[in-house]
Amino acid sequence: MSVTLIPAWSDEEGTQRAAALWAATFGGRPDGVWAAPGRVNIIGEHVDYNGGPCLPVALPHRTFVAMTRRDDQQVRLVSDLAPHDVWSGALAQIAPGGVRGWVAYAGGPAWALAQAGHPVGGFDAAIVSCVPLGAGLSSSAAVECAVALALDETFGLGLGADDAGRRALADACIRTEAQVAGANTGGMDQSVSLRAQADHALLLDFRDGSAQQVPLDLTTSGLELLVIDTRAPHSLDDGQYAERRATCEQAAALLGVGTLREVTDLDAALAQLPDAVMRRRVRHVVTEIARVEVCTGLVRDGRLRDVGPLLDASHASLRTDYEVTCVELDVAVEAARSAGALGARMTGGGFGGSAIALVEAGTVPAVSLAVQEAFAVRGLAEPAFLLAHAGPGGARVPRRSDES
Ligand code: GLA
Repeated sequence: MSVTLIPAWSDEEGTQRAAALWAATFGGRPDGVWAAPGRVNIIGEHVDYNGGPCLPVALPHRTFVAMTRRDDQQVRLVSDLAPHDVWSGALAQIAPGGVRGWVAYAGGPAWALAQAGHPVGGFDAAIVSCVPLGAGLSSSAAVECAVALALDETFGLGLGADDAGRRALADACIRTEAQVAGANTGGMDQSVSLRAQADHALLLDFRDGSAQQVPLDLTTSGLELLVIDTRAPHSLDDGQYAERRATCEQAAALLGVGTLREVTDLDAALAQLPDAVMRRRVRHVVTEIARVEVCTGLVRDGRLRDVGPLLDASHASLRTDYEVTCVELDVAVEAARSAGALGARMTGGGFGGSAIALVEAGTVPAVSLAVQEAFAVRGLAEPAFLLAHAGPGGARVPRRSDES
């Protein structure tokens, strides 16, 4: 048996594929192509909507959007998910309740930007992606963010030029996901897709919306961050995510704090909560926030090998206290660790999706094979693998050589 890693498209490949879908659908050439990445989160899971910190990296795997401005208020959208199924309608139709499925993610940023007072008109867009779909790697956020960047430049909004503007674009994408697509997520995915820098993890702090670049040099440490897509379907709008979020909000209200970030004495907080499930959820959030702080310090100090046990502890907490793992995620992390990973955990929302394993660079094939075999023995669907080399945030492509 051998394992193939899912490749990331280069600027050229993504641009060509987007232009080819454009030509086949609309004819001619688009005005430009923009790209935005998926992500993995190193640590800090299910804490963003609790005002907490998280430490994601942008994947080299990106969604590419070819776009041209129209002179009217019409929109046409096509995706490589359904290349013969062009969505066509009035801009005004793109609104909460007006569109569904991939069109909500692809068109929604136009609604959200207009709501925020930015002048957006009609446009045509063709979308292609190499971010694995439904794998908990933020393929939806990558679509939203690539479209938002394309609209930003197409309509001269000027938001993509600096971090403050990118934060505004991320906010528009977060509102897209919550209000047009109907998944009230916490903001990590859109923020890292737009605010990341290559070779850095991004310390996002949802207490104040700040973002700090944390240098991440896996290569010098002889390490790789292996991503295991369990192929167990993952969805954020099936009620489980919303239920976790609601429980946290109820707990914060009972404790008299705005968010669980403000809990300073865990034992005292737990003693005040009436319900065992709620106590477990709160324990995960508060201990996970502490793990992010320790982990960020280790990454800053270049002590990447010491991060492993924190990944393991995070997974244990997500499994037993937050209850968002599943058989596939548990098997993936256990098999990776048995094959020599320094640490492993689920990443993203959970309930399926992907895990990450911190491994010695030379052991990627052996660890991947061990995970593949563990899945086969249990009769689970074959997993897929990719490497998380920290890439840059979204931008127009091809990127100019003087850009990071
Ligand atoms: C999903 C959401 C994020 C975050 C993670 C869990 O990826 O989109 O906002 O809540 O789950 O950390």
